[in-house]
Amino acid sequence: MSYDLVVIGTGPGGYVCAIRAAQLGMKVAVVEKRKTHGGTCLNVGCIPSKALLHASELFEEAGHDFANMGIKVGTPELDLPAMMGHKQEVIDGNVAGIDYLFKKNKVDVFQGTGKIVAAGKVEVTPDEGDVQTVEAKNIVVATGSDVANLPGVEIDEKQVVSSTGALELDKVPSKMIVVGAGVIGLELGSVWRRLGSEVTVVEFLDRILPGMDGETVKNAQRMFKKQGFKFKVGTKVTGVEKSDAGLKVAIESVKTGKAEELEADVVLVAIGRRPYTDGLGLDAVGVQLDDRGRVVTDGHFKSTVDGIYAIGDVIEGPMLAHKAEDDGVALAEILAGQAGHVDYNLVPGVVYTMPEIAVLGQTEEQLKEAGTAYNVGKFPFSANGRAKAQRHTDGFVKILACKETDKVLGAHMIGAGVGEMIHEVSVLMAFGGAAEDLARTIHAHPTLSEAVKEAALAVDKRPIHM
Ligand code: FAD
Ligand code: NAI
Repeated sequence: MSYDLVVIGTGPGGYVCAIRAAQLGMKVAVVEKRKTHGGTCLNVGCIPSKALLHASELFEEAGHDFANMGIKVGTPELDLPAMMGHKQEVIDGNVAGIDYLFKKNKVDVFQGTGKIVAAGKVEVTPDEGDVQTVEAKNIVVATGSDVANLPGVEIDEKQVVSSTGALELDKVPSKMIVVGAGVIGLELGSVWRRLGSEVTVVEFLDRILPGMDGETVKNAQRMFKKQGFKFKVGTKVTGVEKSDAGLKVAIESVKTGKAEELEADVVLVAIGRRPYTDGLGLDAVGVQLDDRGRVVTDGHFKSTVDGIYAIGDVIEGPMLAHKAEDDGVALAEILAGQAGHVDYNLVPGVVYTMPEIAVLGQTEEQLKEAGTAYNVGKFPFSANGRAKAQRHTDGFVKILACKETDKVLGAHMIGAGVGEMIHEVSVLMAFGGAAEDLARTIHAHPTLSEAVKEAALAVDKRPIHM
């Protein structure tokens, strides 16, 4: 069996790369060790978490907000198995879509664990049946990432869970401790808080969502606290003790060393993810990894060995599904002789909490550190008509533009629906646009997106509705 391209791993990076390469006329095969395609994202990541975030958000709204709009539904009752059924239906529909796309694009599928035995040769060990060798001119490593462990804390996926276990709990924990105030901690913490858990988030650093724009995150933390989240920042977990009665979690202040003990039914460990290259045989064929375990690439996805490439979570850049997808497209185009490219400075980041947080480009902190002079335009949703009609007035849109040229350098938003709204700024920034371009673009009324236009006007100190 000989191919132009064999892709190991069918997450968003791998399956998209395979499809784009097939579109460009290559003979393509994929190797996947799971029974289903779609990787972390479709099976245990983006998609199931959004299914539960959506359902739990409606559950909470039905309990608190419907009555404010004249809708009486009584006290909503949780049917957790049915909610999990909804989640599974969403997963099944999405993974089935990839089977269809592989067939449509004539991509051959090998189920099993792939190992690179030499440049151009992948050995596939299936769950059942004989080992096969697939030959290809080029090999793509798209094996993604796995949960990072907290030293000394064993994940059993029942009481001490990773995101995977937290998407499958069979009852609502009365007390949940989340270790890590990153994206997973806040999203999955939101799900279980809305369904009735008391959620305490323990974060090592002195702030939540490190790396994101400070002002935006400060506001987010205040809103999350109002919702009932408890935060212990500047704090580390030093141990988790299991007993029949539940879990005892030892924590310690990073600064003072002051120790405390918290009780919980479930601990969610969400302290990041590590690139996954286990068992691939990279070492033996000479593919180098960096000090964080990522495959070293040359900026064009080529590893240190000719004919072996890597994309997605397993290489540098943000560990996000859309980044992995764009890596996949760019690599397929490069292999077809085109000029594939991904600008890692323009990868939007969205935290799908309520309100959502959406970020793009540079933060104020980064601009200050680089000594770049900038103007800030900010517009609150409390002054936006549609947000008022929807009773979602928390948050704002902030645009950062170069003081000298007015070129937009960053956008930071918090509010309902901002995960959709960020993309007009993505397009603008991809074309090197200015705040004035946004400000002079007609936005339909009444929409939440008018806040983007107003924020752009505010860069030049001329917002209309503020
Ligand atoms: P993966 O999706 O990890 O896919 C890798 C695939 O390779 C897997 O299917 C694996 O089984 C397979 N594989 C590994 N080794 C082998 C081998 N030797 N042989 C054969 N197959 C192998 N990102 C977002 O952008 N938005 C979100 O909302 C979002 N939500 C998330 C929520 C959670 C709970 C988690 C955990 C992650 C979330 N992410 C989100 C991150 C996103 O899932 C990843 O960035 C994305 O899946 C990376 O894609 P990938 O193709 O690089 O790898
Ligand atoms: P993360 O990197 O977003 O956050 C981890 C947090 O844990 C950080 O705040 C970090 O300071 C903290 N931390 C690290 N070690 C700690 C310790 N010992 N004790 C206490 N806190 C500690 O990682 P997370 O949330 O696990 O997510 C993993 C990846 O998945 C991320 O790269 C993220 O981009 C991706 N993801 C994306 C989503 C989205 O786009 N909406 C949703 C979920 C995950």
